[in-house]
Amino acid sequence: MRRLAAATAALLLTAALPVSAHAAPAAPFPVPNLPQMQLPNLQQEAEKLNNDFLNSLPPELGSSRPAPQKRTPSPAPAPTQKSDCSNCVAITYDDGPSTLTNQLLDTLREKHAHASFMVLAPNATAHPELLRRMQAEGHTIGNHTNTHRELNKLAAGDVDGEIKAGAGAIKAATGQSPRWLRPPYGATNGTVDAAAKTNGQAEAMWSVDTLDWKDRNSEHVCSAAVSGAQPGGIILMHDIHATTVNAASCVIDGLRAKGLEPVSLDTLVPNPQPGKQYYSRG
Ligand code: NI
Repeated sequence: MRRLAAATAALLLTAALPVSAHAAPAAPFPVPNLPQMQLPNLQQEAEKLNNDFLNSLPPELGSSRPAPQKRTPSPAPAPTQKSDCSNCVAITYDDGPSTLTNQLLDTLREKHAHASFMVLAPNATAHPELLRRMQAEGHTIGNHTNTHRELNKLAAGDVDGEIKAGAGAIKAATGQSPRWLRPPYGATNGTVDAAAKTNGQAEAMWSVDTLDWKDRNSEHVCSAAVSGAQPGGIILMHDIHATTVNAASCVIDGLRAKGLEPVSLDTLVPNPQPGKQYYSRG
């Protein structure tokens, strides 16, 4: 009883020392060696058991070992593409490439997702390196013409000129001619169909218009893209708006949460028919 009282007094003395006294103070009198109290730390115990288990795994399973300190509250859905692509949906970006396109390409790479870029000739000519990155990373590059006019209001020769100028800029950057034409504003007609056919390009229309150019709000863009998406669909966006580029992660995760997988047009439609309008896979 007396020993315990002395120990308590020593603890109280220590606690009463000024905060600035960081150096261990000399005890005013000998403190008895009290047995160290062992309180179990359940979380540490659980982590140790988990680590022991992971360390016991054969090396080939090592890559599945989780990083101990990196815990994300809700892990993002992984790629879900079915072997027959029956759950595929195409995400498409018009009017670029722009200064934001690299950021979008980074997000797509990080998420292991693919998209299509319907580029304008002047932008393609200004940034051929962006087209080469798109090509190298498995995205589809399509033709969005030269001057973004309503092709259905042009004479056949002018339609052909717009298509050829767009295709020429893509071929100059990548060495490949585009297989897809996206008529600006979706404005098409029989003349455009015929010119697209002559130039070996199918028309990429869309089934979901996110109206991202009007509604500059990432949450709205994401919501419009995901809620409207159906298997085989084509989603229209623009990689010239920061709000759209910033929504890309949300769009990809949202589609995957619905069981859909964002792919390029070339994956959605492996053999497009030149001159045909595609509003979806069919
Ligand atoms: Ni456009």
